Amino acid sequence: MFVFAPKTLSPSPFLYNPIQISSLHSSNSKLKLDASLKFEYQSERGLEFETGESFFRHESATGRDLGVLAAALYRRCKGKLRVLDGLCGCGVRSLRYLVEAEADFVWANDANDECRDVICRNLSKVARGSENEPRWTVTHTDANRVMTECYLQRDFFDLIDIDSFGSDSTFLRSAINALRFDGLLYVTSTDGYSSGGHRPHHSLAAYGAYIRPLPYSNEIGLRMLIGGAVREASVLGYRVDPLFSYYSYHGPVFRVMLRVKRGKLPDNRHYSFISHCHQCGNSQTFSWDELGQIGCSCGNTKSIIVSGPLWTGLLHDASYLTDMLNLAKEWGWAGGGTETALEKLLKQMVDESDPRLPFGFIKLDEVASRAKVNSPPLRIMMNAIQKEGYAVSRSHISFNAIKTNCPMTVCIRIAKELQQCEPAEIFN
Ligand SMILES: C[S@@+](CC[C@H](N)C(=O)[O-])C[C@H]1O[C@@H](n2cnc3c(N)ncnc32)[C@H](O)[C@@H]1O
Ligand SMILES: [Zn+2]
Repeated sequence: MFVFAPKTLSPSPFLYNPIQISSLHSSNSKLKLDASLKFEYQSERGLEFETGESFFRHESATGRDLGVLAAALYRRCKGKLRVLDGLCGCGVRSLRYLVEAEADFVWANDANDECRDVICRNLSKVARGSENEPRWTVTHTDANRVMTECYLQRDFFDLIDIDSFGSDSTFLRSAINALRFDGLLYVTSTDGYSSGGHRPHHSLAAYGAYIRPLPYSNEIGLRMLIGGAVREASVLGYRVDPLFSYYSYHGPVFRVMLRVKRGKLPDNRHYSFISHCHQCGNSQTFSWDELGQIGCSCGNTKSIIVSGPLWTGLLHDASYLTDMLNLAKEWGWAGGGTETALEKLLKQMVDESDPRLPFGFIKLDEVASRAKVNSPPLRIMMNAIQKEGYAVSRSHISFNAIKTNCPMTVCIRIAKELQQCEPAEIFN
């Protein structure tokens, strides 16, 4: 194995994140102070680790759970798992990939070499292995350099985790290059301004997508990120399939686990444009061939905005998610007496994977405001939509919203009818 010269990036506000007092009391964390050594210990899924001065967020634990579950399934299926944790912070992910996913090897890299002692102490809970066959290694250089050098050395990984900031898409190509065929790429965006359509030229530069403000912008954040990966992969002759796409409001954080395969996306299906009509609330997809025909059934073309190209296919692979849920049950992370947050999330993601459901979601408050009625209760609205033969699910992204193939005009009509019903009629 070759050795990189340590290199520290210039000081950045992101490199240091003192632990917030409030987060010390969050339910998924325990903090212990070793008075003699002055180390702060955190705990996640029973694993103890230090965070030191590194960037660490308890709220990202669910993203780590999902990554570990996907990695463990991959390990079971392929019999081998080599992980590159490119921006590892204190190394908690690397530790979890080693212990929980039983990775054969983890390369923990973070540009900030001040994290070194903390990372090494955290990983030393796992035996280092022999010099010829180490279980883990720690470096401090730019992740792009690590991945490019690995690619040049033909040293490929089964899973690459890129836990980056903002809309840093520069990692996509070097990560795809350093990935084994059929390998998993876990990518990140935390750029809520771009997904919200507030800087379309920036999203165009980063992900090749001109994003305008849409009512389901947090789903757009995931689709913009997948679309960016689709574009980078296709340059190299590969395609990507999302295994799961996860939005978390803190940050916000958009995380997508992609499987990278040989071959191009068939006829650019699912990589297209989204139109939204502010007049009637209707959204549609338009393929590249249909770009000259963009319109809306309400006839008001002036109210239409268009975003894209981005990913318009399914956000998740239902069967992979079901396997992840079963594994979570096996590990006691789900399936007990009370439904855990992770279990609820995975079930919602499975529901969202119904192939009849289009992109986006409809907020019930918007339906109510267009219908000029009170916001209908979510479950009742979902039942009514289903009774009319449409597909519907909740969205893990937005609390009071539904994913459905039921057009906005029909949702409005249903909401008005529900308002007129007696409570007894609604519940029958
Ligand atoms: C979001 S934090 C990582 C958190 C960690 N993955 C976790 O789960 O706790 C991002 C990390 O990226 C590091 N970083 C920033 N730019 C980098 C680069 N170009 N290459 C490698 N690491 C970088 C920062 O030092 C920071 O620790
Ligand atoms: Zn319209």
